[in-house]
Amino acid sequence: MSDAFQWLYSDIVKEHFTNPKNVFDPDEEFRTDAEGVVGNIKCGDQMMFLLRIEEDRIADVRWKTYGCASAIASTSMLSEVIKGMPLREAYGIKPADIARKLGGLPENKIHCSVLGDKALRAAIDSWLEKHGRTGEFKGEDAMEICHCLNITDKDIEQAVKDGARSWGQLQEATKIGTVCGGCKVKAEELLHEFAHIYGD
Ligand code: FES
Repeated sequence: MSDAFQWLYSDIVKEHFTNPKNVFDPDEEFRTDAEGVVGNIKCGDQMMFLLRIEEDRIADVRWKTYGCASAIASTSMLSEVIKGMPLREAYGIKPADIARKLGGLPENKIHCSVLGDKALRAAIDSWLEKHGRTGEFKGEDAMEICHCLNITDKDIEQAVKDGARSWGQLQEATKIGTVCGGCKVKAEELLHEFAHIYGD
């Protein structure tokens, strides 16, 4: 193993990358109550989460990704962390929580770890929808980006899902940044992050 590899990744990342937990095996009979898929296959990172749900808790989980070492290790760790967790708590997990549990990730690899929690939320949202509880947890984990207009990261995510890919399109969809403009840098960062996730 090269020194560069040892320097870049913690031992926990290496363990989850080389021996990932809860990976979906199509030959296994896994009862799936909810499925979430996100990602951009053109960039080679797409993520699928399958959940078994009992009494509003995640009873079991399987996942599959075409991502890199960081994506695989992050999702493996995430899948371990959420087992037995109430849905509401699992819905609020952030990539930074998982990166911390992995003993950190290289700065330029953080963006690879952002798909797991989104696929997880997509699966939970689909399950809530199936049970007549559409959007029950939405907004609870929102972060306000534009303080002048109360626009959150969720609003930006939704605009990108609806097709916004440039600053102008995002402004058209949300009116973000049209007062003091102080939110532009952060909003553009999120725009690029979500465009990567949902397809450029
Ligand atoms: S913070 Fe967004 S326009 Fe002022």
